[in-house]
Amino acid sequence: NASRLSAVRGEIVHFLADPAADPRALEHFADGVLIVRDGHVAECGPAAALLAKLPSGTPLADHRGRLILPGFVDTHVHYPQTDIIASHGEQLLEWLENYTFPAERRFADPAHAAEVAGFFCDELLRNGTTTAAAFATVHPASVEALFAAAQARRMRLITGKVLMDRNCPEFLRDTAETGYAESRALIERWHNRDRLLYAITPRFAPTSTPAQMALAGRLFREHPGVFLQSHLAENRAEVDWVARLHPEARSYLDVYERAGQLGMRALFAHCLWLDDTDRRRMAERGAAMSFCPTSNLFLGSGLFDLRRARALGVRVGLGTDVGGGTSLSMLQTLNEAYKVLQLGGQSLSAASGFHLATLGGAHSLYLDDRIGNFAPGKEADFVVLDPRATPLLARRSAGCTTLEERLFVLMMLGDDRVVAATHVMGVPM
Ligand code: GUN
Ligand code: ZN
Repeated sequence: NASRLSAVRGEIVHFLADPAADPRALEHFADGVLIVRDGHVAECGPAAALLAKLPSGTPLADHRGRLILPGFVDTHVHYPQTDIIASHGEQLLEWLENYTFPAERRFADPAHAAEVAGFFCDELLRNGTTTAAAFATVHPASVEALFAAAQARRMRLITGKVLMDRNCPEFLRDTAETGYAESRALIERWHNRDRLLYAITPRFAPTSTPAQMALAGRLFREHPGVFLQSHLAENRAEVDWVARLHPEARSYLDVYERAGQLGMRALFAHCLWLDDTDRRRMAERGAAMSFCPTSNLFLGSGLFDLRRARALGVRVGLGTDVGGGTSLSMLQTLNEAYKVLQLGGQSLSAASGFHLATLGGAHSLYLDDRIGNFAPGKEADFVVLDPRATPLLARRSAGCTTLEERLFVLMMLGDDRVVAATHVMGVPM
């Protein structure tokens, strides 16, 4: 029949559940085969069993000696900040004024937006990231550009127009009404088209009037299935500012909740300066946190408390937060996640790390029914990692005895150089 079959062979590692909760969550086939039918996982298992029943003539890519994992999920990143990554010397609010806003101004030009969007998507794929929740800018054309670039590459991508009608430069300002209308038009045009999903995107509480916050909440209510993404409690000066702007609110989180922005598919980056009431509220409402370690260290923002988030049952994913973050590599992001947690007297096993970068991220986005592991029927997004990509990696990996050790070395020393191939819907990119 017409169904298209292909297969890859290598060392397969994926998660059936959260390894923190279930010690048998990690599934490993030292010599494994992943069979893809029409872009979806047909089956995954030991090579000996699966090769025997593969119809003759099925294309088989041989990656023996390499690891095959589900594609990485970056739950927070800004594509318009690609060109200001690694800008020196400021914390959040000054960094936004001096670097971010001028860079985002250039996205008024659709040709610039298209060029950056293409580069950004290629760079995600080169790093093994197949799904991302990304900020665009205030310009609707910036959203069009990123959706078009992701669509051309068949990626799963969430983005939306930034809403921002106060406390920002005039040249980046919308209004409560235009922000609402433009977001609605983009939802109708793009949400659920191919693998694309829309996120209502109030930048953060300080840059939206109460009227705009309320309309963003209304949009979220009016469009079930649509996401909402924002920033929460990243920097202490920012938290103080929000407290001054919103004396009526119990906390920073409460500003979002009062505006109707807290719920399933609401995604908040950073979440550093929260209390347990906030964390409980997020868990109860089904909202997710995006842990962005390279950004939190680079901007001097603070240390994420993963143990507390987990203890209270909050969904957590991992984000690069480029350009506040310093790498689009989810491996480098795991490296710094480990160090952030060390500073907080916590730890991150390699299993928990790779779970966070794959199925855990998918779960935080309510996409774990479609991506995140190799369960039959899932979209076949995967990455092929070469544990011998550099002389040091080869040498250090050769000294490992357990899978956990080898994965830990990859997460600490790995970056884009270890990504041998990235497949989207089964197809190498
Ligand atoms: N808070 C509001 N806007 C931003 C942004 O662009 N990056 C980061 N890291 N935090 C923000
Ligand atoms: Zn951000």
